[in-house]
Amino acid sequence: MSELKETILHRRAIRRFEEKQIDEDVLQQILEAGMYAPSAGGRQGVLFVVSQDRVVNERLGKIKRANFRPLTTTTNRVSNEQPSIADDPNLTNAFYDAPTVVTLFAPKNFLFAAEDCACAAENMMLMADSLGVGSCYIGQGWMAFTDPYGQEVLKKWAIRPDYYAVMQLLLGYPKEGDAHPTPKPRKDGRVLRF
Ligand SMILES: Cc1cc2nc3c(=O)[nH]c(=O)nc-3n(C[C@H](O)[C@H](O)[C@H](O)COP(=O)(O)O)c2cc1C
Repeated sequence: MSELKETILHRRAIRRFEEKQIDEDVLQQILEAGMYAPSAGGRQGVLFVVSQDRVVNERLGKIKRANFRPLTTTTNRVSNEQPSIADDPNLTNAFYDAPTVVTLFAPKNFLFAAEDCACAAENMMLMADSLGVGSCYIGQGWMAFTDPYGQEVLKKWAIRPDYYAVMQLLLGYPKEGDAHPTPKPRKDGRVLRF
């Protein structure tokens, strides 16, 4: 099996992290992977804002949690091994205390803003996995900034008003002792050939 295929099959959403911060050279490689992702029209409009400030990350994660509307029902859990906020009401931080939170911003009025961020995020998640770092994609990134504290953070980060937070990518070393999560079986009938 190619190394890339191994990484693709191995990557899972990780929501339980060690406190230890990820190594700087590892972070740089993950960011580089994001920067080399495809972007619509080759515009490279995505901004990668890295926060390793635990106080800021926790406050933003709690705002995000407070705005949460579940996609799932009690019979359809996101993950038993790495529970999400949809699975466990006791989780108060939508960023799961990840030591590094990268918020991906893109222009508000750009048709492919979300796609550009998703492509960058996937590159980053695969690179993270290949370097032993756990990651989790967090959708609806703007919801972390929907109160005065969030607005203050956007100002501090000097985010242009015509940009918005598409998503967050959480990064950290997976909690020691946790088994690596097993993927759910792939649903049949999703490939149609003619
Ligand atoms: C667009 C998108 C949004 C997501 N948003 C969240 C989120 O807000 N919170 C979370 O814990 N996981 C989130 N995830 C991670 C998914 O729950 C996870 O990828 C899915 O359960 C499959 O598990 P796997 O990544 O381990 O294969 C998101 C994933 C995607 C692609």
